[in-house]
Amino acid sequence: MLSRPRRNRKNGPIRDMVRETFITPQHLIYPMFVVDGKGIKDEVSSLPNNFRFSKDLLLKEIEECMNLGIKTFDLFPAVDEHLKDKTATYSWAEDNFYLDIIADVKKHFPESCIMTDVAMDPYSSDGHDGLVENGAILNDETLPILGKMSVAQAQAGADIIGPSDMMDGRVEFIRQSLDDAGFDEVSIMSYTAKYASAYYGPFRDALNSAPKSGDKKTYQMDPANIREAVREAELDELEGADMLMVKPALCYLDVIQKLKQTSSLPITAYNVSGECAMLYAACQNGWLDYERAMPEMLLSMRRAGADAILTYFAKDFAKLYKENKIKW
Ligand code: PBG
Repeated sequence: MLSRPRRNRKNGPIRDMVRETFITPQHLIYPMFVVDGKGIKDEVSSLPNNFRFSKDLLLKEIEECMNLGIKTFDLFPAVDEHLKDKTATYSWAEDNFYLDIIADVKKHFPESCIMTDVAMDPYSSDGHDGLVENGAILNDETLPILGKMSVAQAQAGADIIGPSDMMDGRVEFIRQSLDDAGFDEVSIMSYTAKYASAYYGPFRDALNSAPKSGDKKTYQMDPANIREAVREAELDELEGADMLMVKPALCYLDVIQKLKQTSSLPITAYNVSGECAMLYAACQNGWLDYERAMPEMLLSMRRAGADAILTYFAKDFAKLYKENKIKW
């Protein structure tokens, strides 16, 4: 036999030497849920180990994460039902608790990187990412609302704006709005290929943000399509996006790989709530070993081509990493 691939696997040092892919905490972005109030750390029942934090406890949690090497956080607000309306006015209201939290996190941790979410759903009485009229989700009428929301978040101190709404033309509209308001240094990580997926369930539980009627199929992508993701990526690039995201990640590794090959922008992957929940569930049942299965799941996304990964596992991964317990 001339070729024996097993020789390159025969011991730890050789496997370490030829390993093609790595993950460290610097690759991870931690999505976290925030609520108004004090002393709140409320576990999301369908997403074990993840919580809705009030500002005081969020600051503590962020400090712990920073000490573990996580520097980038994506914050999502759980908004009280009575503050929601048709046009999501609370998203840019002066007394918005989410904007206050962003400002305070940046004040306490200027070296952290804060990403925010732009879409109407957490603030909308319809539970949709855009303006709803007679059951239809309006595109162009939604853009000014997204622009206003983005500027309010930039004003609060956001480093990266994450439009997750999937309206056409929103990246350009947001870029223009930010630049006009003097925020030309604020980045846009576009949810470029965001699919109408069944895997967002626990996230919608966390924020109580599920659509009140209908679904999101007229704006989020059809899970069957990949060439359409290339089209979305080309548009986002032209419109001024700084980074492109694929979401979900695990069921869409081929899309991550495709965009990595066709774009020169950094590619990020959103390991969404449902993907994390199903792994937690299997591990809680004793069916899978969390300390091995979780890093392997993240590794698949890096191997597919993701530069960074948004994941609810970020803190657990960073803990294992620090304790030198990541064994590939
Ligand atoms: C809101 C938004 C969603 C997620 C991120 N931003 C839900 C949705 O589009 O319904 C999902 C994230 C996750 O499931 O972890 N536009």
